[in-house]
Amino acid sequence: MIIIGFESSCDETGVALVDTQRGLLAHALHSQIAMHREYGGVVPELASRDHIRRVLPLTREVLQKAGVSMDDIGAVAYTAGPGLAGALLVGASVAQSFAWARGLPAIPIHHLEGHLLSPLLAQPRPDFPFVALLVSGGHTQLMRVDGVGAYSLLGETLDDAAGEAFDKSAKLMGLGYPGGPALSALARKGDPQRFALPRPMLHSRDLDFSFSGLKTAVLTRIKAADKDGGLSEQDRTDLAAATEAAIVDVLAAKSIKAMKQTGLKRLVVAGGVGANRLLRERLVTTMKGLGGEVFFPPLEFCTDNGAMIAFAGACRVNAGLADLSAGHHAFTVKPRWDLRDVCLPADNAVVQA
Ligand code: KG4
Ligand code: ZN
Repeated sequence: MIIIGFESSCDETGVALVDTQRGLLAHALHSQIAMHREYGGVVPELASRDHIRRVLPLTREVLQKAGVSMDDIGAVAYTAGPGLAGALLVGASVAQSFAWARGLPAIPIHHLEGHLLSPLLAQPRPDFPFVALLVSGGHTQLMRVDGVGAYSLLGETLDDAAGEAFDKSAKLMGLGYPGGPALSALARKGDPQRFALPRPMLHSRDLDFSFSGLKTAVLTRIKAADKDGGLSEQDRTDLAAATEAAIVDVLAAKSIKAMKQTGLKRLVVAGGVGANRLLRERLVTTMKGLGGEVFFPPLEFCTDNGAMIAFAGACRVNAGLADLSAGHHAFTVKPRWDLRDVCLPADNAVVQA
């Protein structure tokens, strides 16, 4: 069955076609980063309007790329949450209208489930079970993944997400939006040891994170420099390197702790911060030391995209977890949505993709 998937939860419009047997057929993406850059962050109303402009041209593009006609499509998947309400409504309305017009089932997808399963879009593909480090702009979680719909939370951030820590620190340093890639690029030339920054909760026994103290420490450094004529270029570069090192140290240490606690050997990294080069290098080295493996989705599937949503829809269909009856087209979006709501009860949780 061919599934068309729509993603519009934040500042990327993504559309993709996935075949439940053959995998990804085509995907297309429009990032709104350039539009939001001048405001220093995502402006929800502008995001919604831009999704409206982009979604149909992207749909035509994927159909053409895959050589698929609308008649070939068997189901429609879309991100139903969490995310920005107005932005979610665009993808949900288009998906539900598409399904209604063609008499197809519509499958609401949890955005984080899309990220969690996205490493399965790559080769080599990790087998279940694995530990997933989910690191995006809004989330930092360690999950145990036993199969499709079988997710258990091992630990999460108590305040800022890792991506937020990158973005907020970058903003304080006067770097562009989104801050993660900009800070990381600058950090390559810096000395990570010149400024001592905290590694919050590094030694706590649990698998939780906290990043808000790091942002405060960065601010304190900047204020101290301001009294002295402001950050020099070298200061900024070294502070970027120190910030990246602090975030990566904590993410890597907690991931390793999760591997030891669960006894699992496969670690999967998903979400936008998974694109970070230092984090990738560190996890590859440490997992090798543990006799395990680490998997990363291709960079284009680390950040938000339609492929992971269509793919999550396909995984749910294959696992018998999707309601394939057509004709239920009353819908809501869920700007806040606990992943546990889409999990199977623990006792029948092991379903393979
Ligand atoms: O998964 P994602 O695209 O969107 C959310 O669902 O939040 O993640 C976006 C986050 C942003 O905070 C961005 O700064 C961060 O991922 N990010 C990075 C890098 N690329 C993206 N952070 C650090 N290094 C990168 N190379
Ligand atoms: Zn995301």
